[in-house]
Order: sequence, then structure tokens, then C-alpha cells
Amino acid sequence: MKVTATVDRLRREGIEVIDFGAGEPDFATPDAIKAAGHDAIDANFTKYTPASGMLELKRAVADRYRADYGVEYAESEVMVTAGGKQALFNAALALFGPGDEVITHAPYWPSLTEQVKLADATPVLVRTHADDGFAIHAEAVARAVTPRTRGIIINSPGNPTGALIAEEELAAIGQLAAQHRIWIVVDLCYERLIYDAVAHNLPAVLARTCRDLTVLCGSASKAYAMTGWRCGWALGPAPLIAACGAIQSHATSNVSSITQKAALAALTGSQAPVRAMLDEYRVRRDSLFGWLSADPRLVCRKPAGAFYLFIDVGALLSGIEPGGLRTSADFAQALLDEARVAVTPGEAFDAPGFIRISYATSMDILREGSTRLLEFVRAHAQAA
Ligand SMILES: Cc1ncc(COP(=O)(O)O)c(C=O)c1O
Repeated sequence: MKVTATVDRLRREGIEVIDFGAGEPDFATPDAIKAAGHDAIDANFTKYTPASGMLELKRAVADRYRADYGVEYAESEVMVTAGGKQALFNAALALFGPGDEVITHAPYWPSLTEQVKLADATPVLVRTHADDGFAIHAEAVARAVTPRTRGIIINSPGNPTGALIAEEELAAIGQLAAQHRIWIVVDLCYERLIYDAVAHNLPAVLARTCRDLTVLCGSASKAYAMTGWRCGWALGPAPLIAACGAIQSHATSNVSSITQKAALAALTGSQAPVRAMLDEYRVRRDSLFGWLSADPRLVCRKPAGAFYLFIDVGALLSGIEPGGLRTSADFAQALLDEARVAVTPGEAFDAPGFIRISYATSMDILREGSTRLLEFVRAHAQAA
């Protein structure tokens, strides 16, 4: 969001910038979803709804998860939130408190750990590694467990890495959670953006191993290009959902009634737009990867999900040498100043030495930005 704000500022000053920072789809919200929003306004569906969401929408969320994963959730086990972010935040506030440790994997999306801190709990990081495809290993998670561990947060597909957790690893983490009575919160915000037919039925794995300790957090934002509408959801045991509902009731009340009608159309209507967007992201991913990986100093893998290329630029950093690019933050700043390309430095995700490129943007922009990035790399390679 900071990168986006900088890009906006430069553009207001009349400076043309290629924006690879955005963490949101460039596609318009599909027409049928927009029409449902218009209809809601025209029908004066503009009053309060239940604070935890309309019943029909809760049912639609449960139906979607039954259809996609074969899991059963009752209406009392589902709530509607202002994006996946509020689902995760409600869960953090309901579950965690002073003295609690909450494990998650790094590199990570920063709100996950900040929310744990807002709940006065302590994030504990399990590092994953680029040469291992940023895989999450149950063994590493087990080593981080202490008597104070109250939760484990898993984000898959992950932002910024695009990595997926293997079902076997999650099953082992689920068993660990059941044994020690630890909550598992799963951030599934990119669940519909997985490129290949890999096994990724995380809800079913956890339903088998520790359903009573599992919170699933999802979102309409990325799947349906609905970031600005603000709609997400949480599924979990009824007492926890009730606690999350109480928090939300006193904080923000219901998600916009108009948004809820639009999300209902998204979840119950044709899923063809989701597939079409995924196909387009795949073409972009493959092209971008082809162009950039041609330069061996930009070290990356094809992401399995989400829409980010996470690139190791360590070979281009010059350590302590003055005048060179010492950190990936320096790299990102110089790239913006000299080539007018905005990327997110790895520091934002607790992963110095990397940059994140979002390919949720058009092919023309990807091509132009890649050309500039490759030129920038050639120019700076000497200094490193
Ligand atoms: C990993 C991850 N989780 C959750 C979210 C929350 O998105 P939203 O609140 O729009 O659903 C984001 C948004 O960028 C994300 O990257």
C-alpha cells in the first residue's frame, strides 16, 4: 500500500510510473456481480443486515466450501467480514492475548503478524527458504511450539512467495495442533488462484485432523476482482464464530449490504470469470518469468499460486560498499528513481534481499516494466 501511495504521488506530479506493486487484480469486477450491486441499491437494500452477515450469504459461503472441498459448515459456523483481513483480525482478537505465542511462516504478509501484536500476543516465525520453494515443513513448526503456543497461522497460496503448503505437511501440523490444543488459522485469500491441478484441499485435511480448532479465512477480493467492495468470510466452530461476531458487532457491524448482495452473486453465479482471470494470470506469469529469469542475476521460481514473482536480487547487492545498492529497499528505491518501476522490497515481508513483482497488470505494462528492470540490472551489475 505504501508503494501504491508513492506511485499515486508521482503520477499526480506528472511522472509516468510502471506499477508492479499492486496487490490487487487489475480486472474489473465481473458484470453479473456489479449488476447485483446495482440491483441492491435500486431495491433499497441499503439498511443494516445482521452484524455477522446475511443468512443467504453465509449459506452461499458454506455451499461454496462444500462444493469446492467437500466440507460441511452450518450457518452458525460462518460469518461475513470486511475482506479476509477482518476475518483474520476477528480471529486474532478472539483467540490470542497477552503471553500467547502465535507461529507463522516467513516471508509473510505483514498484517498477519501485526494483528497478532494488536491482540497483545507474540508472533513466532518459522523461516522458509527460496531454494526449498518456500515450503512449510511441519517439523520446523513443531520445533517452534512451546507451552505458550496458542495458534498457528498458515497462508497458502502465500503472499509474497506464491508457495503452497503440501497437504501431508498440513496434516502433520493438524495432528500437532490436536495434540497440544493449538488453534490453526488458515488464510485462504488466494485459494482460487492456483495454476496447476495440485492437491490443496486444506479445509478437508483440517476437518479430518482438528476441525474443532480450525478457522478458515477467505475473501472475494482476489478471486472475483472485488478488492474495493470489502467482502470476506470466516468458517470455524460455532462458539468461535460467535465470539468473532461479537467483536465485529461492536467494531464495524455488518459488511455493506450492497457488497453482500454482490458477493452472493459472485459465489452462487457462474465461476467462469474466475477461471478466465486465472488463465490470463497464468499467461502473464509464464511470460514475465521467461523474460526475467533470462538474466541469471534475477533468481526466481514460477509461483504455484497468487500473482506475484518473488525475486532474489542478492547477486546485485553490494554489501557495505558505499554508492552501491546495499539492500533490496535501496534496489527498489533506485529502480523507482532511475527506471520509474515500482516494486515492493522484500523488507516489507521480512525477506530482505528480495523484491516482489505483482503481475496483476496488463501484458504491455509487464513487457515495458521488464525491459526497464533488465536494463537497470545490467547497469547496476558492475557496481555489485
Ligand atoms: C495473504 C493475504 N491475506 C489476506 C489479504 C486480505 O485481503 P482482503 O482483506 O482484501 O480480503 C491479503 C491482501 O492483500 C493478502 O495478501
